[in-house]
Parts: sequence; C-alpha cells; structure tokens
Amino acid sequence: MRTLSSEIGNFDGKEIELLGWVQVRRDHGKLIFIDLRDRSGIAQIVFGPESKELHKKADALRSEWVVKISGKVKKRPKGMENPEIPNGGYEVVAGNLEVLAEAKTPPFDVSGDGRDINEEVRMKYRYLDLRRPRMRKILENRSRITKFMRDFLTEKGFIEVETPVFGKSTPEGARDYLVPSRVYPGKFYALPQSPQQYKQLLMVAGLERYFQIVKCFRDEDTRGDRQPEFTQLDIEMSFASEEEVLNLVEELYLNLVKTLYLNKKIKLDKNNKIIRISYKDAMEKHNSDKPDIRNDKNNPDELAFLFVVDFPMFEWKETEKRWDAVHHPFTMPKVKDVNDFKEAFKKNPASILAYQYDLVLNGYEIAGGSIRIHNPALLQAVFEAMGNKPEEVKEKFGHMLEAFEYGAPPHGGIASGVDRFVMILENEPDIREVIAFPKTGDGKDLLMDAPSEVSKEQLKELHIKVEKEKK
Ligand code: AMO
Repeated sequence: MRTLSSEIGNFDGKEIELLGWVQVRRDHGKLIFIDLRDRSGIAQIVFGPESKELHKKADALRSEWVVKISGKVKKRPKGMENPEIPNGGYEVVAGNLEVLAEAKTPPFDVSGDGRDINEEVRMKYRYLDLRRPRMRKILENRSRITKFMRDFLTEKGFIEVETPVFGKSTPEGARDYLVPSRVYPGKFYALPQSPQQYKQLLMVAGLERYFQIVKCFRDEDTRGDRQPEFTQLDIEMSFASEEEVLNLVEELYLNLVKTLYLNKKIKLDKNNKIIRISYKDAMEKHNSDKPDIRNDKNNPDELAFLFVVDFPMFEWKETEKRWDAVHHPFTMPKVKDVNDFKEAFKKNPASILAYQYDLVLNGYEIAGGSIRIHNPALLQAVFEAMGNKPEEVKEKFGHMLEAFEYGAPPHGGIASGVDRFVMILENEPDIREVIAFPKTGDGKDLLMDAPSEVSKEQLKELHIKVEKEKK
C-alpha cells in the first residue's frame, strides 16, 4: 500500500512504498540521496552500497522522473535531520526502485518559488510550473476557500444552481465574447459577463436563495487583477434588504478568514463590524471608490475590508452621449415609484442614488451587488433613461420585463471575485498566480496556443468569412 511522504515519521522501522517524482538526486559516492516529491511534500530516500544493481539504477535517476520506491523507514543519523520539512527527522532506506516514467530535463527548476523565471516560459509549461510547492499550496488553499463558501451558504439554505454559458448578452460594461450559431446563420450566443439575468429569473422562479461558483467572461483589457475569464461567487436572495445581503457577506468573509487564515489581522470598526463608507465620502476623503484603509500597507497579513455604499445610479458616458448605469440597469434606484424616478431623472440624473454596494479589500474591489428593480414599469423607465428606445428594450430585455409580470419577489444580491480574494489572502501580486491555467497579459493561452486559427471547413459551417487585415 502507498504511503505519502509526509507520513513516513509514523512508520519508523517499517517497510513502506512511496510514489512520486525525483526532485533532486545527490551523489555522495557510496550513498545516493533522492528527494522524492509527492502531493504531500518531500521524503529523503537513501540508496546504500549493499546492492550494486539497485545503486546503479539509482545512479541513472534524473530530476522529474516518476518512481516507485519501497524501503525501510529509519531515523536520520544525529546532525543530519532537516527541521525545515515535516518528518525531516526520518529517511527511507531503499530496498527496491521501479522507474514509472522518465522525464526530459525541465526548462526550469520546479523546486523554488519560480518568481525569477520568465512568465512566458512558466505559462507555456504550466503543468511543470504547477509542480512547485508554492503553486500547489495556492491551489489547495483556493479549494479550501471555495469549499468553505459552499458549506457556509448551503448551511444557510442557499442552493447552487448552474446557469447556461451560451446565452444572451448581459450588460456588465465589458465587450461580450460571442459564439456563432451553426444552425442559425448570422446569429450568436454571448458568453455571460455574469449570470445576472439568470439569477434574477431564479428569484422569479421562487428559489429564494441561490448561489453559484461560476466562470464569467469579459472581453476587456487584461490587468494584474483582471482576466478575460474569471470566477465569481454569485449570490441572489429574495425578500432581502441591503442590510441582510451585507450581513451575509460579512459573516461569510470574516468566518472564512478566521477559520482558514489564522495569521491574518482583520481591521474592523469598534463594534467588530466591517467599516462602511458612502461612495460620496470615499471620493471626497480618499479620491477613490476602492480606498485601501490598511493601517500599515507594508504588513502583508493585515486585511482591511470596507463596504462602499450609496453609489450613484447613473454616470454620464461622454463617448456615447448618454447616461449609463454605474452598476447595471437592474439596480434599484432610491426613489419612491416610477413617477418619482422620472421626475428625479428629468431634474438631475447624477443626484439619484442606488441600493448598490461594493466590498473592497486592501484597495481591491472584491465584490459588488445591488438590490434589484422588480417592478417592470420602473425597469422599463430605467432602460429608456439610459437611451434605449421602447422597441430596443423589448428586443434586448423583453424576457425580463415579461418575467417580472408574473409575480417577481423583491430581491437583491452580490457577486464576489474569487480570484482577487484568493490573490489577496495568498499575498500574491497578480491573479494569474492563483488560477491554474490563466491567460497572459495579452489574452493568450501559451500552453494550448489559443486563440488559434480554425479550418476553412469549420468557418464555412459557421457561415463566417475572415477578412485578413491589410498590412
Ligand atoms: P461586477 O461586474 O461588479 O458585478 O463583478 C463582481 C466582482 O467580480 C470581480 N471581477 C473580476 N475579477 C477578475 N477579472 C475580471 N475581469 C473581473 N471583473 C469583475 C470583481 C467584482 O467586484 N452581476 C454583478 C453582480 C451583482 O449585481 O450581483 C457583477 O458581475 O471582484
């Protein structure tokens, strides 16, 4: 039976079998040492001079070969212990060695933290890059974080529902990725910038408490905290006030950090709650809608959460010469009714506030949400205020307006950027470090070589002609 390298200390004097990769081989003449790496860590293996045949086989081993080794666990000689690794007081005296796979010399060392290696090479050989313990630890912690989110929300009566990836464009402010339809020439699906409309439709469906850990797609410039595809923890609740949504998120995030990141110091207000600030005050005091309020910005273990509330509903878009929603058009403006909205909009669109909130952490926007409009007449009025003609509203959002005519409960929600949150918790400078297979800064997947050209036949089936750009 297989033993993991981290467990060898429990088997002193016993015969065990280990499986894994050769991290390094050190040749001391009579003795050959191997650091064997598996998912749990590293174990030291010793090949003595007793068996010539075994010694010769060990001599041929190279870094990253995959091996099966059986042997006897013993305490390391005095002074030879390695306090840096768990079970560094033990080693395995090899009795048998089987090579399961040989390996080419890797293009870079996988034992260090990899920060000084050219990123393009790391991305091209991401499967090797992920072998380094630092990357494994990040992926393990990310998995713990999403498990915590799932368990917490499930406990509170939320159910996880999958929504389509092929859908219709939802306005979240970025460009859509489009998928051409083979069956309907000239028609396209849009990949979701978020599941916003579907989650609201689930509220109309009476689910009341929905969540999903979900991929979202936005065709916008990539930055350190922005990827074209990223993961949201998406939440929607019926019959919930803004206060209830914020309290839920607060409880989730504070419990998560206290359970999984014991060394973090969380900055809170005097009632041990997340500090809140209005959008107006944030702009006036910090000149930013996502201020970093840490006491000491050099301290990597300080977490300063901040709720920014009372965002304006609209902002002027000079390029399009129209008022646009700051969050999205489904957000509830702070008005009494449709007439009140129309009057306020006529007077001064910029003065209308919204039930909209962001969660900021150490200067990054890690979540955003709002209470939604559930009255179809008000939603129609907001779409029209944003410059849509009534027939355009019908074409783009008719399905939502119609759904809201069948008894839509008041509802609201929030979506959190999982990659950004993990990046901050793991003290990483870029979300690429916390995503298994990220895109490069210029939107490429260097490992798979995507995007790539497709065959003429595929294009023909999709009714697409590609115009080559003239040089
Ligand atoms: P919003 O557009 O604010 O809201 O997105 C929510 C959160 O998702 C994260 N995020 C990103 N992370 C990485 N790369 C990106 N390109 C990227 N874009 C956004 C941010 C952000 O706070 N449907 C609404 C939510 C709602 O109203 O419930 C929405 O998507 O952390």
